[in-house]
Amino acid sequence: MYGWRIPPPKEPSKSKEALARERQEKVAWLIEEGLLKSERIRQALLKVPREDFIPEPYRDYAYLEVPLPLPGISATISCPHSYPLFYEPLGLDQGHRFLEVGLGSGYGTAVAREVVGDEGLVVAMEIDRLTFEYAKANLVKAGYKDVVLVQADGGFGYPELQPYDRIAVTAACTEIPTPLLEQLAIGGRLIAPVITADGQDLTVFEKSATGVCQEFVCQVLYVNLHGKYGVPEEQGS
Ligand SMILES: C[S@@+](CC[C@H](N)C(=O)[O-])C[C@H]1O[C@@H](n2cnc3c(N)ncnc32)[C@H](O)[C@@H]1O
Repeated sequence: MYGWRIPPPKEPSKSKEALARERQEKVAWLIEEGLLKSERIRQALLKVPREDFIPEPYRDYAYLEVPLPLPGISATISCPHSYPLFYEPLGLDQGHRFLEVGLGSGYGTAVAREVVGDEGLVVAMEIDRLTFEYAKANLVKAGYKDVVLVQADGGFGYPELQPYDRIAVTAACTEIPTPLLEQLAIGGRLIAPVITADGQDLTVFEKSATGVCQEFVCQVLYVNLHGKYGVPEEQGS
């Protein structure tokens, strides 16, 4: 994982209560930092136990601001602040039909499920079979049985359930895969880390009847998108 200092694997020693306290402190910190504003996202982050989506040797680090390794070729669970960082500018809300490209641990999927609620829909795609199976087991164990999980190249999207009000691509790409823009509803938003000459720009795209406009959010550092619309890892930052 380029650019990050990952703590060493160890036997988990923190109690559920200690991790729940860390979760509350993390949410308070995200609000203080101005990263978290939406009440629905706040409730979702408080509800979903992030530690249940992390391999045991890294579980005690659940609330540290580092991505942690997952089973699979290049999968990581992103830093805790990444979720409001993506979901706030996306305006993810109750009732949305949401597509996540890059399921990873399943944590972001669970948070999104809480945000969109019963009236919404969550579809999450993962290209790596091992990572997919890991995330699926996490989600089933945590009781999220009503999310649509697809093991495939997410660059093609999932046309069967289009259109999507919101799409999050959690891996870096040089340009947004065309199928994803096609499957985005009019008025819908897509967020993705876009590779530039200087690194990666987290960018929000909004689709209207006349075209797509885009807005820079901040610089980020994500693993690269694989598959047909992917980028070889060495081209990433
Ligand atoms: C930063 S991780 C995702 C973190 C995840 N959202 C979470 O909460 O744990 C990026 C993921 O994108 C996956 N990925 C890369 N290219 C993909 C593609 N074309 N389609 C679907 N998943 C892809 C990687 O295997 C990796 O699991």
